[in-house]
Amino acid sequence: MTTTPVEAVRLPDPYPFYAALVADSPFAYDRTLGAWVAADAAAVRAVLGSGALRVRPPAEPVPAGITGTAAGEVFGDLVRMTDGDTHTRLKAVVTQALGSADTARAGRLAAEFTHEALAAGGPPPYEELMTAVPARVVAALCGLADGADREAARAVGDFVQCIPASATPGQQRAAARAAERLRELLGPGIESGADGLLGELVRAAGRASWAAAAPLLSNAVGFLSQTYDATAGLIGNTLVALARGAAVPGTARAAEALVREVVRYDAPVQNTRRFAAEPFVHGDVKVEAGAQILVLLAAANRDPSVNPEPHLLLPDRADPVVFTFGAAAHRCPGRELATALATAVVTELLRAGVGPSDLPAAPAYRPSPNARIPLLGS
Ligand code: HEM
Repeated sequence: MTTTPVEAVRLPDPYPFYAALVADSPFAYDRTLGAWVAADAAAVRAVLGSGALRVRPPAEPVPAGITGTAAGEVFGDLVRMTDGDTHTRLKAVVTQALGSADTARAGRLAAEFTHEALAAGGPPPYEELMTAVPARVVAALCGLADGADREAARAVGDFVQCIPASATPGQQRAAARAAERLRELLGPGIESGADGLLGELVRAAGRASWAAAAPLLSNAVGFLSQTYDATAGLIGNTLVALARGAAVPGTARAAEALVREVVRYDAPVQNTRRFAAEPFVHGDVKVEAGAQILVLLAAANRDPSVNPEPHLLLPDRADPVVFTFGAAAHRCPGRELATALATAVVTELLRAGVGPSDLPAAPAYRPSPNARIPLLGS
């Protein structure tokens, strides 16, 4: 059976498939997907840097199934899902807020919540450690406490279900309820401009003369939703790397170096998409307006023209070129926070005595068109 670049996300080892694309068809049309596929570093960089391409289909800025619901309102405000002037202005605000996030505190909270989750004994609750713990930390950085942090982490698990194009009507209804609740939980912090991440967001908005509160609240929900799956994948893929023989880090610095290289080597977000609002030309290929492009971040990370010996996991790699957090206008502003969270959870697990031999080296992966998240147990 032949693999598509979307199915590759869940393969035990998608990298030989990606390497063949990088070598033989770095930017080509895939009839099965009905989309162009950008695989090598040059194509991925060109696509992500192009103003002719949008993050959403121009005719459907919000998925039809959630339009008119709280989930649709949040989705439509997310910087991740918008382009143009509004994106540029709001992205600057969001980037400033996340840039002042207290990553040291995030690490301490992630270690504390991991410790709590392990205290019950028995096999480590990997799903909780990978998804709920990072989301709870970001909720705590947003000022939620006394159970509201846990509730927000649960709700965001429902909200993110509306994001893939494959979402069912039931998932979309649950996402709408979750978005409503997340706005109730986070709204007071936006109104009061409290301390922490929400206060930073409000203050950055003030400096940028950004007056509308609703998009700030939506992007505060976005802090949780952007954390959720991607950070789960980063924690999980780091644990899988250890199970497959990566050297066990002996220090916090070594753990962070391992996490940073796993970001490149086994990207938790394997691909993203762009939609041509205008024709886009790369080399001798012309993509017409209306076409869709699948951008293989995980393939470009292993392009030998940008990273020597790309198939080796080398935690102290000098100046790696990494596409996992995107590039250009939509580059991820949560990179340092995600790295701090994943490093703390993995370090705490190792400290608690979970060793590589306790971890599955060949897990199944969660069904997802873009996030690579191993299923490590309950
Ligand atoms: C391992 C974890 C993460 C990965 C791999 C990741 C990856 C990405 C990628 C690839 C994009 C760009 C998508 C595109 O251009 O199509 C993105 C955007 C974004 N990420 Fe992350 N992310 C992670 C964690 C986080 C965290 C923890 C936050 C914040 C709390 C965050 C906030 C955002 C935001 C706000 C955007 C939208 C930026 C824009 O569109 O201008 N991310 N992320």
